[in-house]
Amino acid sequence: MPPLPEPTLGDTPWFMHDRFGMFIHWGLYALPARHEWVKSQERLTDAQYQFYFDHFDPDLFDPSAWAKAARAAGMKYVVITTKHHDGFCLWDTQQTDYKAPNTPAQRDLLRAIVDAFRQEGLRIGFYYSLIDWHHPDFTIDIFHPLRDMPDATDLNQPRDMGRYAAYLRAQLGELLTQYGQIDILWCDFSYPDRVYNGLPGKGHQEWQSDLLYQEIRRLAPHIILNNRLDLQKIAPDFYTPEQYQPQTWVQVNGKPVVWEACQTFSGSWGYHRDETTWKSPEQLIHLLVNTVAAGGNLLMNVGPTGRGIFDPRAEKALAAYADWMQLHSRSIYGCTQSDFTAPSGVRYTQNGNRLYVHLLHYPFRHVQLPGLAGKVAYAQFLHDASEIRFKEAHAGRSWDEDVLSEDAILLSVPVPKPDVITPVIELFLK
Ligand code: GLC
Repeated sequence: MPPLPEPTLGDTPWFMHDRFGMFIHWGLYALPARHEWVKSQERLTDAQYQFYFDHFDPDLFDPSAWAKAARAAGMKYVVITTKHHDGFCLWDTQQTDYKAPNTPAQRDLLRAIVDAFRQEGLRIGFYYSLIDWHHPDFTIDIFHPLRDMPDATDLNQPRDMGRYAAYLRAQLGELLTQYGQIDILWCDFSYPDRVYNGLPGKGHQEWQSDLLYQEIRRLAPHIILNNRLDLQKIAPDFYTPEQYQPQTWVQVNGKPVVWEACQTFSGSWGYHRDETTWKSPEQLIHLLVNTVAAGGNLLMNVGPTGRGIFDPRAEKALAAYADWMQLHSRSIYGCTQSDFTAPSGVRYTQNGNRLYVHLLHYPFRHVQLPGLAGKVAYAQFLHDASEIRFKEAHAGRSWDEDVLSEDAILLSVPVPKPDVITPVIELFLK
């Protein structure tokens, strides 16, 4: 097995075992339905954005349906946006009035979501935006909707990031004490070097990250914390490549780290009505396989609509995972990068002496796997446990010297591709 990341204070073993989670981005931006950054992108004022607060009425909201879909898809944990960059809070926070109970939704939506996912046996993670485009003390910066106001610098005068940092601590205090055990904290994000027209970026100084970190650990000693707090001396528990597919185990300063890729079905995180760049079922499965094959987790995002449901495109995407995971989860849970090198068109995941051969491009009749001669006791398709016969080369005398390298095995697969998105062969190593 490849070298493991050094342990941190957070409880990462369950996380690395479970491999697959659901990200949920849900908030007022589901109503404009044109990206969760709409307030920033369109430079909307608070007054303009207020329409979405006044009309946020998710009348079909049924979090147990979300949780059932996640479980069916094989997802083992959920990370939910408690507050996104627009500052709107899904829970009944005492720190602001800008929260779900004061919208037509009239209740603590976070609590309902947490309860529903727990009920389905998933672990709970909280996404929490460090950025806040609503809070009066949050200074205008490169991403703020008011950044292009001619008097932005003057507007910043009364704003006090010290008070805002206290607000962050108070809110995280609520989130980490009032909702039972929270396993993941996903803070988002820092940009200390992004200066815009003289307006500074934000990082550990503005968030008072060290203090915040102490508070987080005091309240939740084993929570696993991501890498976006701009912590200076403390190693985060995991790293978060975003909409990007690492090809090998993610390293930081030359050492492997725990990592989780976050991906979308369509490019936007919040519900986006007009987006057409939805990934195919095959691409979705490949994202999962490629990630686990490189020792990582996949956090796949859903953006529920303003009515409070998953739209049909999201349901279809989740169904692709459900169908495939029902038969193939053994090649995902508890699996990691293999020391064997897979040939092109193939990805390996491994769990002990089971080596999973993911056929990303279904081959014609044969699959040649170098480096495995003499090492395989038995082989079968994972989806139906049907035997896959194989031949080995022997030192100096190949089964077919033209095509088979000496240390390879040659698997025979049926000509028609099995009726699964990505077929997997399970090898039992000796
Ligand atoms: C980003 C974006 C954001 C999204 C997040 C998920 O940093 O600001 O909208 O929530 O990534 O990774």
